[in-house]
Amino acid sequence: MSGALDGRIALVTGGSRGVGRAVALRLARAGAAVAVNYRRDADAAAEVVALIRESGGRAESYRAAIGDDDAVAEMVAAITRDLGPVDLVVSNAGSASRGATVEHTPQADFAALMRVHAFGPIGLIRALLPGMRAAAANSVGRGDIVMISSNSTTTTPAGAAPYTMAKAAMESCVRTLAREERPHRIHANIVAPGLVATEMGRRLVSAARGAELDDIAATSPFGRVCTPEDVAGTVAFLVSGDAGYLTGQRLTVDGGGPDTELF
Ligand SMILES: NC(=O)c1ccc[n+]([C@@H]2O[C@H](COP(=O)([O-])OP(=O)(O)OC[C@H]3O[C@@H](n4cnc5c(N)ncnc54)[C@H](OP(=O)(O)O)[C@@H]3O)[C@@H](O)[C@H]2O)c1
Repeated sequence: MSGALDGRIALVTGGSRGVGRAVALRLARAGAAVAVNYRRDADAAAEVVALIRESGGRAESYRAAIGDDDAVAEMVAAITRDLGPVDLVVSNAGSASRGATVEHTPQADFAALMRVHAFGPIGLIRALLPGMRAAAANSVGRGDIVMISSNSTTTTPAGAAPYTMAKAAMESCVRTLAREERPHRIHANIVAPGLVATEMGRRLVSAARGAELDDIAATSPFGRVCTPEDVAGTVAFLVSGDAGYLTGQRLTVDGGGPDTELF
């Protein structure tokens, strides 16, 4: 566990399962100490931490629902105490909306998705910025904010407005952060996957097509569904020295897009 991210302190929200799990393992493999955030599934978070430690890395898990500002403040304080100030945050935690049309979506559902995908991450980033700026100004030399968004902010599928709208709001904020924070050596970028083979992806495919992920592999780009590791590799590039003059970008990880616009 040593490499390009030696000395970096990363926080991955929703790092216990799916995309976040792969990102946490990938960043640890490159040498970062990793704070693994989760909401409910403590065992899954503990497993990620154990895997990192078994490989010689540093990791701790932290329970906090993104969107609960008090819990997030406590988590940031605990990470700073345990590992040091975070200089790399991957805002990944999230859940999908319920598939209803705008007409049939209660106002509360829009508010809930905005809280998880936009207001919560904005609050988290605001809490992290002072420490991140200080780290970037000192030995670390840079800070990174990476948002895991979705290609649905451009494909805008029917039945997903609360999710798509909240992701789009956060994308705008990240692009603004990119301009505001570059004087502080902080990069802010967006990774926008299409369908990914996770629990969320499995549910989306089941709801949209009544199928399993394996059933749609052959008709997916490159004959397979995107893996969490595909997304993690893109994150690893964005936070590396190879992306040293890159900020405010949105990388779409969808194999060039589906042949149809189901996702
Ligand atoms: N899968 C796809 O097809 C796909 C496509 C495009 C974009 N994305 C995006 O990729 C990200 C990860 O999705 P995934 O597919 O990996 O989902 P997943 O398999 O359902 O995993 C979700 C993770 O987020 C955590 N989480 C959910 N809500 C949270 C909250 N409010 N606070 C803290 N943690 C929370 C979960 O923790 P607990 O288990 O503890 O609840 C879990 O670790 C999401 O932002 C999603 O919108 C996914």
